Amino acid sequence: MLNKDWKSRMDYLSLKKHPKTIPEHFSEDKKINLLVVDDEPAICEVVQQYFQFNGYSCDTATHVKNALDFLNVGPYDLVITDIRMPDLDGTYLLKEIMKNYPDTAVIMMTGVDDIMQAVECLKIGAYDYIPKPFDLDELNVAVDRALERRNLLRERRTYKELLEGKVHERTLELVRAYDEIEKTYQRTLETLVSALDLREKSTAGHSKRSVEYTRLLAQQLKIRGKKIINITRGALLHDVGKIGIPDVILLKPGTFSDDEWKLMRKHPEIGYEMLKDIKFLEGAMDIVLYHHERWDGKGYPKSLKGNNIPIGARIFAVIDAFDAITSKRVYRDARSFEKAREIIWENVDTQFDPDVVEAFSKIPLEKLEIVYQISIIKDINSLSVPKVSI
Ligand SMILES: [Fe+2]
Repeated sequence: MLNKDWKSRMDYLSLKKHPKTIPEHFSEDKKINLLVVDDEPAICEVVQQYFQFNGYSCDTATHVKNALDFLNVGPYDLVITDIRMPDLDGTYLLKEIMKNYPDTAVIMMTGVDDIMQAVECLKIGAYDYIPKPFDLDELNVAVDRALERRNLLRERRTYKELLEGKVHERTLELVRAYDEIEKTYQRTLETLVSALDLREKSTAGHSKRSVEYTRLLAQQLKIRGKKIINITRGALLHDVGKIGIPDVILLKPGTFSDDEWKLMRKHPEIGYEMLKDIKFLEGAMDIVLYHHERWDGKGYPKSLKGNNIPIGARIFAVIDAFDAITSKRVYRDARSFEKAREIIWENVDTQFDPDVVEAFSKIPLEKLEIVYQISIIKDINSLSVPKVSI
């Protein structure tokens, strides 16, 4: 029902004495779209006329379902809705708008008995409420305030999205740069290790081949992610300490004297001392330092026993032996993969971790053969590492 104020307001509108001006913060060339929802057509009409007269675009709906149809076509900058309506109420409409049209501000119109409900609506997300009967100037102030707040929130959200986009972009750049640095490190290490392999074994392939065997065995043991990277990096660098062993000992064709053995056995610690301060390699250090430990505790340099030996070193010990047995030496031919597995099984519980050996025995020989063949092809094609005859 329209009360006296409403009727006089209609008279006021017809006189057009004090046209309202659109606030400065709204662009002149973009009309603001309002939707008024009230089951009383007269209220819809008065509010519509008031805002249309002042330059807004304003639609009206007398049912929530009708309002939702308008919103579906939208967009609307602001909805002014009654709370109590015969079909679905204004709270339902508010929730729908919050869920599906978050850029639309909502002002609730309430009867005197609905104040508590209006407060609930504010909690849900309504921008304001205005008790009936209201003066149109009051509604106008509420609309201005709601639109201003809505614009601020939108600007803040746009700014936040822009910042998030920038952060995401910069993060991607950092990740790419980090990957590139890692690849460069890795290539540098591979080159260094190839040169070391060549010095001792006349082939650049031993360490890189061992890396691939190690990867297969670690995967067989269900090791994943960063741990695999650390283990394979350790496999690549395991003998880097041999750089500190003189050629006269390292390349000696016969057996070593006790003193020579003593020196040779220092290569894990030499390697560890060389690399221990490089953070990038800290996960690989277990293999560099412990790859000559034995399951029975008779290895070196620390005589660690059983599970006290880090898993990476226990894995690599098997691979190192496998590659040594299946590689040609000056004093013997390379032995078959089957024979190498046999020899490794003979040394389980003394030299090797039984669980690791069992996992190794489950890797199909064809997979190991592929790794071996690829390493030979790479060796032959490697122009940067010339072959040396012995
Ligand atoms: Fe070694």
